[in-house]
Amino acid sequence: MNPSSFSKLPILLKPFLLSLLLSIFFLVFLATQSPLLRLKPPLHTPPSDGGGLRIRRGYTSYNAYIQRQLNKTLNPKLRKIWTTRDWDRKIKVFARVFHSLKQRNLISNDSKALSIGARVGQEVAALKTVGVSDAVGIDLVPYPPLVMKGDFHAQPFRNQTFDFEFSNVFDHALYPLKFVGEIERTLKPGGVCVLHVAVARQTDKFSANDLYSVQPLLELFKESELLEVRKVDAFGLDTEVVFRKKIKDYSY
Ligand SMILES: *[C@@H]1O[C@H](CO)[C@@H](O)[C@H](O)[C@H]1NC(C)=O
Ligand SMILES: *[C@@H]1O[C@H](CO)[C@@H](O)[C@H](O)[C@H]1NC(C)=O
Ligand SMILES: *[C@@H]1O[C@H](CO)[C@@H](O)[C@H](O)[C@H]1NC(C)=O
Repeated sequence: MNPSSFSKLPILLKPFLLSLLLSIFFLVFLATQSPLLRLKPPLHTPPSDGGGLRIRRGYTSYNAYIQRQLNKTLNPKLRKIWTTRDWDRKIKVFARVFHSLKQRNLISNDSKALSIGARVGQEVAALKTVGVSDAVGIDLVPYPPLVMKGDFHAQPFRNQTFDFEFSNVFDHALYPLKFVGEIERTLKPGGVCVLHVAVARQTDKFSANDLYSVQPLLELFKESELLEVRKVDAFGLDTEVVFRKKIKDYSY
């Protein structure tokens, strides 16, 4: 065998193999950086009707639904965590949220404020921390003095009571239209509603609906105008949606 053919082969192959290896590394690197691959896939398939809001099946009656919600709210382990380890951390985050809303003139010290699905009242405490002293929460289980008993499908308040309503439990509503209808009923004209929602993301097993875009909210808030949609990072919820109840013009 001609010894020169031996030495020639590696000389030609080496740079070729090296660049092949480098290209593969580079492609793999590019692929892992691609936003398409980094995005978490939605955990539920969006509804095919394009509705963007899906009610979870499996509740045989309204009472069964309420029992399930109560199971979470009354869970002693969870309540312990909410009132101890979670308390300061949540108040800090919510105080920042409400402070920011104040700076955007969406809430003021004089606002009469409601927190819907308030659990043990961290949001109510946070409202008071930023100076909104007339604040109260509702939940299926009361936690006085911050949270009174109330079902968000049938709020225990008269029409046009509040200047401001906040909720991060929209996903728990079995009847989203009622949930929103009650907010619009109890808000004063010109009152502001702020929702924190999860869009196309896993919520929890107590959720009663899944939201795939903010579009369904625009349809549910019939008597309000959309003011803002922004990204937030608030305990698994990623989107802040702000509505203002329209002031009806009775002048004609
Ligand atoms: C509530 O929780 C209890 C015990 O944890 C369980 O036995 C019961 O089936 C649950 N009820 C519902 C409606 O989920
Ligand atoms: C609102 O309340 C906070 C906290 O009590 C206070 O520091 C602030 O000065 C008040 N703002 C106005 C405009 O009264
Ligand atoms: C309260 O508001 C609801 C819905 O907007 C309306 O149907 C109802 O008549 C109002 N009730 C009173 C007492 O004004």
